[in-house]
Amino acid sequence: MEEQSQVLDVVHLGHPVLRQKAEPVSKELFGSTRLKELAEGMVETMIQMKGVGLAAPQVGEPLRLFAYWVPGDDEQLVEPTVLVNPEIRQVGAEQEDGWEGCLSIPGLLGRVPRFVRVKVKAQDITGAPVSLTADYFHARVIQHENDHLDGVVYLDRMQSMSSLAFEKEWKQHNPPEE
Ligand code: NI
Repeated sequence: MEEQSQVLDVVHLGHPVLRQKAEPVSKELFGSTRLKELAEGMVETMIQMKGVGLAAPQVGEPLRLFAYWVPGDDEQLVEPTVLVNPEIRQVGAEQEDGWEGCLSIPGLLGRVPRFVRVKVKAQDITGAPVSLTADYFHARVIQHENDHLDGVVYLDRMQSMSSLAFEKEWKQHNPPEE
């Protein structure tokens, strides 16, 4: 039988679920079909919509999990990953600015400061412990997604709104960097 992957509906800014604190995934949900299908749907949706991350509140589920990946064909590649009940802490105080967008705020981009390096403790969808250290873009994606679990979006993290741009204009006027 063919695998049925479904692209989920992504809610946009203005939906209250994006501004609430998400609930931890409970013991009973680990290993369940519901959690597995939600996680698979989030990964599928993220990839189909050309995003690098998607948190459960963005598909209307106020639960503490997110999917992300770092596309690429080199050593920077991070395969699609789902982290459940993550706890993030910065390693060092170093921050850098970088461009971010969000599937819940389509068409816009802005400069956001993030910690360069973070440590993550989380669980996978079976409940098994996961720990990892991420830096640069990988760390940025994790911090952006983790914020969604606390009702925070990248606009809240911008130091100034002056960089806020429509992607279409940005592509024409911003030379590639990094
Ligand atoms: Ni987002």
